[in-house]
Amino acid sequence: MTLKGKYALVTGGSRGIGRGIVLKLAQSGAKVAVHYYQKEDQAKATLEKLRAAGTDGFLVQADVCKPEEIRRMFAHVKSEFGALDIFVNNARPEVPTFYDGPMTISLDMFDFAMDSQAKAFLVAVREALPMMRDGGRIIAMTYAPGGRFGSWQPWVAMGAAKAALEVLCRYFAVALAPRQITVNAVSPGWTDDSVFNTLPQAAQSMIRNWHEAGWTPMRRLGTPADLGNAVALLCSSEANWITGQILDVDGGAALMDAHLPLEIQQIPPKQGQAA
Ligand SMILES: NC(=O)c1ccc[n+]([C@@H]2O[C@H](COP(=O)([O-])OP(=O)(O)OC[C@H]3O[C@@H](n4cnc5c(N)ncnc54)[C@H](OP(=O)(O)O)[C@@H]3O)[C@@H](O)[C@H]2O)c1
Repeated sequence: MTLKGKYALVTGGSRGIGRGIVLKLAQSGAKVAVHYYQKEDQAKATLEKLRAAGTDGFLVQADVCKPEEIRRMFAHVKSEFGALDIFVNNARPEVPTFYDGPMTISLDMFDFAMDSQAKAFLVAVREALPMMRDGGRIIAMTYAPGGRFGSWQPWVAMGAAKAALEVLCRYFAVALAPRQITVNAVSPGWTDDSVFNTLPQAAQSMIRNWHEAGWTPMRRLGTPADLGNAVALLCSSEANWITGQILDVDGGAALMDAHLPLEIQQIPPKQGQAA
């Protein structure tokens, strides 16, 4: 699979999953605009790795919660590339900016989450389109469980925002089908080398052990490279008939049944762990 001759923009490409996506697109031959918000040093490190992969790109800064900054970001991309084939909507603000339960969250925090995902995506896709070539790819990074379940109370704002983002993918998929532009969402399972590693150590261990115990049938967390691979697959010409879908990229975690203990689901205990 080659993406040679393609131009891509990845928001939040400076680190975490976004970096994994940038690097996979670069390894496949695409030129990539690496967006960041505040961590220019991280973005520069990503750009260096991208160049080491034998392609090129540039850095672009913007706060995706501000529509005028999204417009400036796309104007910058247009001035550098002149065209766009792949847009990956991946950026997500720091957790404390939106993390609070449904009974206490402030409206400002709720708006912040919605602005960073649903509104940012709406504005970005409309900005991308005039420069996007027919047959282009638009991919939004979501967290589908956050929109589907209600159990993780302080995730209410981001869950609502990701659900709205997924809905927008379906509407844009239909709107852009005549130009053969596909619009899909990718939903990662818990992924190492990302926001996960900023959680308190005890929370990281609990989450890791949970998945290794079998709640992720492949018994490991994801990596940014796993997500980069999934995005690159959706960008391939072979994926030209896939649109409006949410792809779970999670080692099978979304297939598990939370109503039943692992023993009854016949998931054997982890090696070295008592049954
Ligand atoms: N990590 C997981 O396990 C996981 C699971 C499911 C879904 N996801 C989704 O995958 C995506 C990436 O997650 P991640 O954990 O890799 O993220 P991350 O490591 O926390 O990185 C966040 C990225 O977003 C950028 N950003 C933060 N605030 C911004 C703002 N106001 N405007 C523009 N950009 C901003 C950051 O830029 P700077 O570097 O400049 O700060 C950074 O590039 C997110 O959409 C997330 O919801 C992640």
